[in-house]
Amino acid sequence: MQLPDEAIAYQYQNAFAAPTEEWTAAGELRAQHFLHHAQLRDLTDRLTKVRGQIAAERELKNPSPEQTPLDAGFIDLPQQTLDGFRRQGEASVLGKVLARAQILREQTDRVVILGIGGSYLGARTIFDALKSNYHNDLPARDRPNVPRIYFEGNNVDNDALQELFDLLQLTCVDPEIREERWGVIVISKSGGTLETAAALRAIRREMVEFYGHHSPLLNDLIVPVTGSEGKLRTLMRAEGMTDDQMMTIPDNVGGRYSVFTPVGLMPAAVMGLDVRALLLGAAAMTKRFLEEPFERNPVLQFAAVNFLMAKTKPMRVFSIWSKKLESLGLWYDQLLAESLGKQGIGPTPLTTVQTRDLHSRGQQHQEGARDKFINNLIVNTPSHPPIMIGMMDRNEDDLNQYNRKGLPDIQKAALKGTNQAYFDVARPTADLIVPALSEHTVGQLMQMLMLATVVEGRLLGINPYGQPGVEAYKKNMKTLLKG
Ligand code: PA5
Repeated sequence: MQLPDEAIAYQYQNAFAAPTEEWTAAGELRAQHFLHHAQLRDLTDRLTKVRGQIAAERELKNPSPEQTPLDAGFIDLPQQTLDGFRRQGEASVLGKVLARAQILREQTDRVVILGIGGSYLGARTIFDALKSNYHNDLPARDRPNVPRIYFEGNNVDNDALQELFDLLQLTCVDPEIREERWGVIVISKSGGTLETAAALRAIRREMVEFYGHHSPLLNDLIVPVTGSEGKLRTLMRAEGMTDDQMMTIPDNVGGRYSVFTPVGLMPAAVMGLDVRALLLGAAAMTKRFLEEPFERNPVLQFAAVNFLMAKTKPMRVFSIWSKKLESLGLWYDQLLAESLGKQGIGPTPLTTVQTRDLHSRGQQHQEGARDKFINNLIVNTPSHPPIMIGMMDRNEDDLNQYNRKGLPDIQKAALKGTNQAYFDVARPTADLIVPALSEHTVGQLMQMLMLATVVEGRLLGINPYGQPGVEAYKKNMKTLLKG
C-alpha cells in the first residue's frame, strides 16, 4: 500500500546555521538565532533513550503514580485495528464502525457530529482535508450515499445551534424520505462534557419532534462514541440502546490522541472515506518511528528540531500552504497546547494559512519579535489539475507574461520567496512535506504529529498525556450554573 513517494518528509536545513558561512551581518544573526548541528548531535543519545522509553511504555500494564496518566494506546492502535478487522471481520471494531456508518449513509442525508476538543478536531481535520470544500452544497447524485456533515456541540453558541435547527426544520419535513432524514454521531470519551451533553439534549428534542417519540429510528440514527462507562453511555442505555449499538473509545487512548479510534473512524466512514488507508498510513508512521534511524525518521526529526528551537523561540507557527489543512493546524494547536502546556512551560502553537495570512501576519513574522519558529506544511501535488493563468486579449492586469503558469506555480514561488525572505533576516523555518492529500498521507501526518508531541514531552520532562489545567474552568462553570 505505501509507495515510497507517498512518504512524508521533514526538511530542516533552514533552521540550522551554516558551519562555514563567510562573515556577514545576516550570517552573524543566523549564528545567533538558528540552531547548530552540535546541538542536534548532543541530543542523539537522549532521543534514542526517549524512543526506547516510549516503546516500553506501550507494554506497561501497571504504571507507577509518577507515570500516570499514561495513554500510550494510540501508538499501536492503527495496526491492531487493521489486524482485528482481518481476523474478525464484521465482529471487529472496524467492522462495527463500517456497519454502523453504512446505516447512517443509507438512511440519512445529513449527519450532525457532536463533540469538542479531541472529540471534534480530528474528524473536522479529516473532513476538511479529504472532502470537497463544497461537499454539503453538492447535489445528492454527486455525493452518492454520503450525507452532508455538520459539526456542533463544540461550543455553547446559542445562535449557531439554532441556525442548524432552522436549517434542519426547513429542509427536513418528511421522515419517510431518505433525503430529508438526519442523524447524529455524539462523541465524548468522558460522557460528561457539558458542551456536548447540552447540544445532545437539545438535538434529541428536535429528533423526537421530527421522528416521533417512540420511533425506532431514534436509536438507529444516533450513534454514541464514548468511553466504557460514563453518563452518555448510561443515558443511551436508559433510552433502550444496547452496548453493541455504541462505539467504545479504549481507556488507554486520550482525547486528543483518539483520531484513529471510532472518534475519527466513525465520522470518516460516514464521509465515505477509505478508513483502512487512513489506518495503514498511521500504522506505517508508527513503524517508521520505532524502527528507522534519525535520518529517515520524521517523528524524531520534528520532535528534536522543535524541542531545540522552543528553548529560544516559544512561539511555534504552523504555516500551512493548503486551505484544506487549516483544521489540521487547529487540531495540532490543541495537541501541542494540551499536551505540553504544563508546569509553566511549553511552546505556544499558532496556525496560519498561506498565502492568506502573509497579508495579515506576514509583517510580524518578517520583522516582529524574534520569538517564532515557523514550520511550513506543504502539499507537493494538488489533487486537481492546475488552474492556468492563460493568455487574454485584454492584458491591463499585466498577467500575460505568466500565461504558462498555474496557481501551483504561484504558490511554489510564494513559498520559496517567503522562506528566502525569512532566511535573509535570520528567521528560522523548516518544511514538513506531504506528497499529496489522501487518506494514507493524512493518516501518516496525524500519527507523526501525535508521536512527535509525545517525544517532545518526554524530552521536556512533561507528561504529554492528561490535561489537568482544563478542569479549573469546568469546575467554576458548573458552580456558577448552580447559583
Ligand atoms: O484531549 C482531550 O482529552 C480533551 O480535549 C477532550 O477531548 C475534550 O475535553 C472532550 O472530552 P470528552 O471526549 O470527554 O467529551
